[in-house]
Amino acid sequence: MTSLNAQLEHVEKFFDTKYVLQGVDIVFVPGQITVIIGPSGCGKSTILRLLLGLQRPDAGRVLVDGRDLATFRRADWFAYREQLGMVFQSAALFDSLTIIENVAFALLEHAKLAPAESYRIAEEKLRLVGLKDQGNLRPGELSGGMQKRVAIARAIARDPALVLYDEPTTGLDPITSTVIEDLIVLLTRQLGVTSIVVTHQLSTIFRTADRVVMLLNGKIIGEGSPAGLRESTDPRIRGFLRGEVPPGWV
Ligand SMILES: Nc1ncnc2c1ncn2[C@@H]1O[C@H](COP(=O)(O)OP(=O)(O)OP(=O)(O)O)[C@@H](O)[C@H]1O
Ligand SMILES: [Mg+2]
Repeated sequence: MTSLNAQLEHVEKFFDTKYVLQGVDIVFVPGQITVIIGPSGCGKSTILRLLLGLQRPDAGRVLVDGRDLATFRRADWFAYREQLGMVFQSAALFDSLTIIENVAFALLEHAKLAPAESYRIAEEKLRLVGLKDQGNLRPGELSGGMQKRVAIARAIARDPALVLYDEPTTGLDPITSTVIEDLIVLLTRQLGVTSIVVTHQLSTIFRTADRVVMLLNGKIIGEGSPAGLRESTDPRIRGFLRGEVPPGWV
């Protein structure tokens, strides 16, 4: 069981003149599911991009196991990326490859693994997401929810310690959303990883979160357990949970 400790410390991020993250502090508790919520454009995916190292903060620090990503050298990035799994909003599968090839892809690149071993691991991950019999199909032959599960199998192929999910249930019907939500919980508990889920889907918050962090206009306006969120008296949080435009949203 491996989990990673990740943390944002007073992080600020600008795009041109837009002040997207205005001093954000979040501790992602190892082995837990932290769900980041907030309206469109509030900076949720930006946080994931900072954790992936695709973007850098303009101020503050992104820390992984206490180490600032800004100090990472090539070898550190290599080691860190090995521990990361990412589930993109679009499943982002290779259409020309079969399901098992899609999952094995990340492993085959891995010089240390023989192809047979890569396929064995890919098969095991497909079993974990409930798709062990679909390995020989192509993405076009699967439903949206099944494609999402393949994307999750691929994200966990290399036994990551930190898994990032960007809108894993958006656009899925309620039953398929439930399947994905339960899978996120199962994998987090079974693999002992740290999970970060970005969503604006209410079911995903309440079905998966150990902790919820709510962002609005680049600042954290609330955090705590899902039950605590429900009891919040903050009109912006209450409004969000009712599906209304939060007061003060710009
Ligand atoms: N590379 C970029 N260049 C310029 N602006 C950007 C860039 N990336 C993000 N932004 C802006 O930063 C803001 C936050 O973007 P982000 O993708 O983090 O939002 P989000 O909370 O994930 O929204 P959504 O729920 O719609 O996915 C948006 O206004 C977006 O237009
Ligand atoms: Mg986003």
